[in-house]
Amino acid sequence: MSVIAGPYAERRRQLLQQMDGLAIIPAAATRIRNNDVEHSYRQDSDFYYLTGLEEPEACLLLSSAHDEHQAVVFLRERNPERERWEGQRLGVERACDALGVDASYPIGELGERLKDYCKGAPQLYYDIGQHPKLDADVLAGITQARARGRAQTPWPRTIVHPEALIHERRLIKSEAELALMRQAAAITAEAHALAMQKAAAGKTEYLMEAIFQSVFRAHGCKRMAYDPIVGAGANATVLHYVANDGVLRDGELLLIDAGCEYKYYASDVTRTFPINGRFSAPQRRVYEVVLQAQLAGIEHARPGATIESIHECTLKVLVAGMIDIGLLSGDVDEAIADKSYRQFYMHRTSHWLGMDVHDVGAYFLRGEARPLVANMVLTIEPGIYIAADDERAPPEYRGIGIRIEDDILITETGHENLTAAIAKTVEAIERACNS
Ligand code: GLY
Ligand code: MN
Ligand code: MN
Repeated sequence: MSVIAGPYAERRRQLLQQMDGLAIIPAAATRIRNNDVEHSYRQDSDFYYLTGLEEPEACLLLSSAHDEHQAVVFLRERNPERERWEGQRLGVERACDALGVDASYPIGELGERLKDYCKGAPQLYYDIGQHPKLDADVLAGITQARARGRAQTPWPRTIVHPEALIHERRLIKSEAELALMRQAAAITAEAHALAMQKAAAGKTEYLMEAIFQSVFRAHGCKRMAYDPIVGAGANATVLHYVANDGVLRDGELLLIDAGCEYKYYASDVTRTFPINGRFSAPQRRVYEVVLQAQLAGIEHARPGATIESIHECTLKVLVAGMIDIGLLSGDVDEAIADKSYRQFYMHRTSHWLGMDVHDVGAYFLRGEARPLVANMVLTIEPGIYIAADDERAPPEYRGIGIRIEDDILITETGHENLTAAIAKTVEAIERACNS
């Protein structure tokens, strides 16, 4: 197994400069699906961000307090019998060279060795409460470090959530990370274009989903970034519809929210288009409202804006449009103040995007919405969802569900839409559907 080259050692070095103590970052656990069969494995994003290692049963320690070991990995030992069944393991002997860490030990020794690394560390950076077995080892490590430490030897008196350290870094994407996100966006764009081309009455939602799986796998993506939503007709009004087993019907819309994960980076895109290739007049009216709202939100995205202000700006246009086409009555400020728009728009407009589809990073700092800065990536995804049995809505709109979602990079001077290549205007969508 070769050296895992990449940005991992440099990321660890930068984290260590900000630390005063010990960080414990465990690998994701495997999960049993049934009997001796596991769910497919996906490494924990923090652990991968700092090691590039895809194995379970591993843990990274970073210490700014230890004399010799700043980075230590605990992992599985080599085992020819198991490797014959499960594939190669890196193993303890090769880990230092391959990962560029200062020491490596069998994962079974983690509990025992924790006390030595806790000793001298004033702070412990650890997500307590997420890993019950490791929690017990960590608490024992703290207790022993406290008992054994001489009066002047620090021990972890504070446990700090690692988000302050790791998640704030992950929120700001490097150029190398952005290259992966652009690639994820390009692959996702290819799949959405093909879906628009292939959709037709009589086909199934799962056949459309299969297009995404096929395109994503053909580009080497190991998985989707999330379970895709493929909702035809009124299925699109169910926000987390994932059954994807309905039939596409002439005259209805198809909402597809699907994005690939490429080398651990997500894309998250929604497009809604007519199954027969032509929007009906009422569908088009609702679509234009969502589109104008989404464009207003994107236009507003720049350094100094916030996810809150993007939401407010998008919502204003969305609600004005809802009133305009007869979905709501009254005036815009009133409909926002009394929340009557929530009958048709019940989610927020944006979330961070990165290694996780709902990526890490604080949305508020000291109680205030955090200002956007260059190299953050977020989605902008307004929608209108009118239940088929909603008697308060004009009949021609019932059963229409529309969301439009793009992935937006904040730049020094404004923004870049990473998913701009995917057809979005009424004209471009009708062209793509009929190509
Ligand atoms: N696909 C999940 C989301 O849009 O947040
Ligand atoms: Mn999203
Ligand atoms: Mn989405």
